[in-house]
Amino acid sequence: MVEDNGSIRTLSVDIGGSGVKAIVLDVTGKPLTERVRLETPQPAIPEVVINAITILAATQGQFDRVSVGFPGVVRCGVTETAANLDSNWIGFDLATALSGQLKKPVRVINDADMQGLGAISGQGVELVITLGTGFGSALFTDGKLVPNMEMGHHQFRKGESYEEQLCRETLEKIGEKRWNRRLERAIATLQRLFNYDWLYIGGGEAVRVNLNLPLNVKLIPNITGLLGGIALWRE
Ligand code: BGC
Repeated sequence: MVEDNGSIRTLSVDIGGSGVKAIVLDVTGKPLTERVRLETPQPAIPEVVINAITILAATQGQFDRVSVGFPGVVRCGVTETAANLDSNWIGFDLATALSGQLKKPVRVINDADMQGLGAISGQGVELVITLGTGFGSALFTDGKLVPNMEMGHHQFRKGESYEEQLCRETLEKIGEKRWNRRLERAIATLQRLFNYDWLYIGGGEAVRVNLNLPLNVKLIPNITGLLGGIALWRE
């Protein structure tokens, strides 16, 4: 039988420090189902997170392949870091394990990289940062990704990293006003460093950004993290 490529359904999964989310996309990246979410199990060891994904997948009907955004460095389906999950992820072959569980081909990429793929225009220098449990980052030139750029753990100010200064836990500690002031400084620093054409700000806490943003800075909805999943299957 000739495969009808037009009907291929992709289960897109976003593993976050606080929630695991899933949705099914058509070949053009359009959602076919309602997004579902489960709290990230604690401790967030691979087996229980895979179990959460399996539970979410069971609510999504038919799908043919799976894309996963993971909050750490990913190389060839293997997770190499997991600052906000659990150390058991270091060196874990997530693509193979999840593929064995769901019986479908699985591709895994860093969560901010996946979010970026859902947001960019494909032209010029485009930088994406995500504000949530962690601080994610992704850089693109003419649509080409520089993979696994871990700006979150790079020093920002006062001896602290971008993640330490701007993560959700810090936001709750210092309040929105100070957090927004810090973010404004981060945006200015990143503009000087990357001279980007566009900066996109996503992640669960992007809704708490309350600044007059420069014209080349856009807030993106958190669902972009899932929509980017379709790009993992482009040749
Ligand atoms: C991780 C990144 C991830 C970001 C957002 C950071 O702690 O190191 O890989 O993209 O959190 O989840």
